[in-house]
Amino acid sequence: MPRLPFDPYRFAWPIVRMLDPEVAHGLAVRALETGLVPTPPPVDDDVLKVRLWNLLFPNPVGLAAGFDKDARVYGQMLDQGFGFVEVGSITPQPQPGNPKPRLFRLESDHAVINRMGFNSEGHAASVARLQHRDRARGIVGVNLGKNKNTEDAAADYEIGARTFAHLADFMVINVSSPNTPGLRALQGAEVLRDLLVRTKEALSAGAAEHGVQRPPLLLKIAPDLTDEDKADIAQVSLDVAIDGLIVTNTTIERPATLTSVHKGEGGGLSGRPLFEASTRVLGEMYAATKGKMVLVGVGGIENGRDAYEKILAGASLVELYSAMIYHGPGLAARINRELAEILKADGFASVLHAAGQKGA
Ligand code: FNR
Repeated sequence: MPRLPFDPYRFAWPIVRMLDPEVAHGLAVRALETGLVPTPPPVDDDVLKVRLWNLLFPNPVGLAAGFDKDARVYGQMLDQGFGFVEVGSITPQPQPGNPKPRLFRLESDHAVINRMGFNSEGHAASVARLQHRDRARGIVGVNLGKNKNTEDAAADYEIGARTFAHLADFMVINVSSPNTPGLRALQGAEVLRDLLVRTKEALSAGAAEHGVQRPPLLLKIAPDLTDEDKADIAQVSLDVAIDGLIVTNTTIERPATLTSVHKGEGGGLSGRPLFEASTRVLGEMYAATKGKMVLVGVGGIENGRDAYEKILAGASLVELYSAMIYHGPGLAARINRELAEILKADGFASVLHAAGQKGA
């Protein structure tokens, strides 16, 4: 597809906003699959490069879980300028998720509410799409969920870890979606410890079976946690020596500032109104883990300045989803250009030099 000197999404947006959001999402994925979406010029700048674990991220701006749930368009999204893509959440067995409508645009709030409920084609479908991927195209993480009716939740994460150990550059345990009953209770100290230990062992076993190194294991947490929950999560994560935390998922809170007609819908809120709360939790987790845990900052990022704020609060990488609904997939390249400029203007040689420097 040719590179265009203008942003085609600006012209597509008036049509997109007239469509049901889930229909629009399906069309966007189809357009990406068929190569109809033009790629923006690449942003290649040393200041943006992040070396973490055994990976070299070309830039720190990733695509958050939920956009490419079934690993259909991770390659195309890397081509759009994302430094990495997190596919999923993927459940072991296929499941339909919640009844529609279950995705709402809160336009006046620059926000989204979703109660998708882990609609997933299941592990096998994503394995088939990931097993022949060209790793040189970019970094892909796999986000694991659990089936709605699974009693032993840890078993679903163990199966996922073992199944994707040789296919994922990093692995994410998602226990923070608000749309699967009981899921967020897995963030409690003792149950979390058991879950992390078992999943890490399964990941090591899966990697050994294929003769590869165990990929890094990250935990994705909610913004709606008590101080005790946050302290426990920090302690357990350090004890079990997982490799990072993704902070945060969507919120069940509804800030009083919301104005959209859809603000009363049930589910998780994301986008601009989540920025402050998720960045606060990020800073708290940075302090609680004393900078010893890699943190990925997510929630309400719309521009380079937002990404920079997350980095200053402690993030080594960032992710976004909701803002892309309003600005199109070319947003990643734009954020990277802005971020590179800000980092240089503030005298930082790299993203990792700036990570956690708020107030320093
Ligand atoms: C999500 N998110 C999400 N997270 C996750 O771990 N597994 C998932 O399956 C999904 N699904 C999902 C669907 C939709 C429609 C949205 C909007 C979000 C949460 C997402 O990855 C991210 O954590 C939040 O949306 C906050 O970031 P943004 O959207 O404010 O940039």
